[in-house]
Amino acid sequence: MSNAHSRILIIDYGSQFTQLIARRVREARVYSEIHPPTRSPGWIREWAPTGIILSGGPNSVYEDGAPSLDPAVLDMAPVLAICYGMQVIAHVSGGEVIGAGRREYGRSDLVVEEPCGLFDGFASKESMTVWMSHGDHVDAPPPGYVVTASSSTVPIAAMRHRDKPIHCVQFHPEVAHTPRGGELIANFLFRVCHAEPSWTPGAFVESEVQKIRERVGPARVICGLSGGVDSSVAAALVHRAIGDQLTCVFVDTGLLRLHEREQVERTFTARPGMKLVTVDASARFLDALAGVEDPEHKRRIIGHTFIDVFEEATSGVGKDAEYLVQGTLYPDVIESYSPRGGPSVTIKTHHNVGGLKPEMKFKLIEPLRELFKDEVRNVGRELGLPEEMVGRHPFPGPGLGIRVLGAVTVDALDVLRRADAIYLEEIREAGLYNEIWQAFAVLLPVRSVGVMGDYRTYENVVALRAVTSTDGMTADWYPFPHDLLGRISNRIINQVRGVNRVVYDVSSKPPATIEWE
Ligand code: XMP
Repeated sequence: MSNAHSRILIIDYGSQFTQLIARRVREARVYSEIHPPTRSPGWIREWAPTGIILSGGPNSVYEDGAPSLDPAVLDMAPVLAICYGMQVIAHVSGGEVIGAGRREYGRSDLVVEEPCGLFDGFASKESMTVWMSHGDHVDAPPPGYVVTASSSTVPIAAMRHRDKPIHCVQFHPEVAHTPRGGELIANFLFRVCHAEPSWTPGAFVESEVQKIRERVGPARVICGLSGGVDSSVAAALVHRAIGDQLTCVFVDTGLLRLHEREQVERTFTARPGMKLVTVDASARFLDALAGVEDPEHKRRIIGHTFIDVFEEATSGVGKDAEYLVQGTLYPDVIESYSPRGGPSVTIKTHHNVGGLKPEMKFKLIEPLRELFKDEVRNVGRELGLPEEMVGRHPFPGPGLGIRVLGAVTVDALDVLRRADAIYLEEIREAGLYNEIWQAFAVLLPVRSVGVMGDYRTYENVVALRAVTSTDGMTADWYPFPHDLLGRISNRIINQVRGVNRVVYDVSSKPPATIEWE
């Protein structure tokens, strides 16, 4: 094989779990990529997969326009077919797929009929809890296939080809609700495909450093640092590759959290040979935002101002640079299959810091394009970035600009910053920071009455938000212990002048969003 790594091709039939399959495979240290079902057999042969995984999907194989599979693909590499993938194989190989009459969704108990191959390590007739999510199922196996597991609702819950390395499961081994799903995936990778577990952060850094050096040669490179995980890791990686040919530009928008600028400066100037230029543009951002209350309008102003400031900065310090580093991640570039591609509605405009005009003169370097977020964090650790940076919660590009509700002022930012810092400090101290996807304070545009000593107060309200989530698309509010909430509230009210009331946000997403604006 021409590639250094074993690699698994995942064909995406539109399941909500497809990215999870890719992550499970990578967690087992085997590289994987997601591609749409429109890839031709020729393309797949060229890609040279060590194994192929067919994902689930919402269609029925008999529907008009349902995505299918060229049977030739089944002979190119070992195959694991999940849910819809299994039905597609049955359909193109002469088996029978029927509608169940109703959807089966949830936990199910399954009996292992054949404790080898995918089920290696199980006992014969051992029962196993799995997660099902399907309408149709396979009613008669295609010629050459034998049943390897069954359940009371689905007699053919898993099957395999008698002679070829083709394994099919009706349930979802990739989700946490299938507790031993990881063993099945590992059996497929290591016993069926004989893949090498060589996809490690160290191996990634080594090969990426090599690629960057070859591509860039002696040219100069520029990188916008936001202080977030992605741009920090991208910068550290490119710096490892080309040292002082890289210049990083950090824009202080005035919308950062307490001590954030100092933290970024400290972390990066500690790296030998790192050229870091900080542009203090806080006055400019505040001027541009003066009196603006509408959240989308604020986002546009912050986005445009950022681009202007960054372009001015790069035409100075980066005028002879040829390349620009961007922290694009794999989920942004996956060419997913959309079974019901309809119009989508803009809920919030996301101006990511670093998302620049296409006509900029730079060629792009996107060293994290192949990685999921958790892999980016591990690469950051590999590169020696501090835990407080690689483990950081997501922070929106427009920063505190969308957490001071209503008009943004220096005073409001100052109040919010101090309340937010106390909140995060208490969360860290309680050892809960890593259990939470995102936690932050919001300054509300209302005042409320309070009493302090003998005085009536009429001051600001701070709302606290903390959510758990896996991708930010859906989220649950975090159930803090009450005594911790009480302590945080006390500290904020006592220590942050101008705040006399703290409330905790108990809304999930949907219907609320994570940010308040
Ligand atoms: P929402 O509020 O839409 O947030 O539930 C989902 C995730 O996106 C982040 N977010 C943003 N990130 N620019 C960004 O770069 C933005 O304008 C923006 N708005 C929300 C939010 O913090 C959460 O992680």
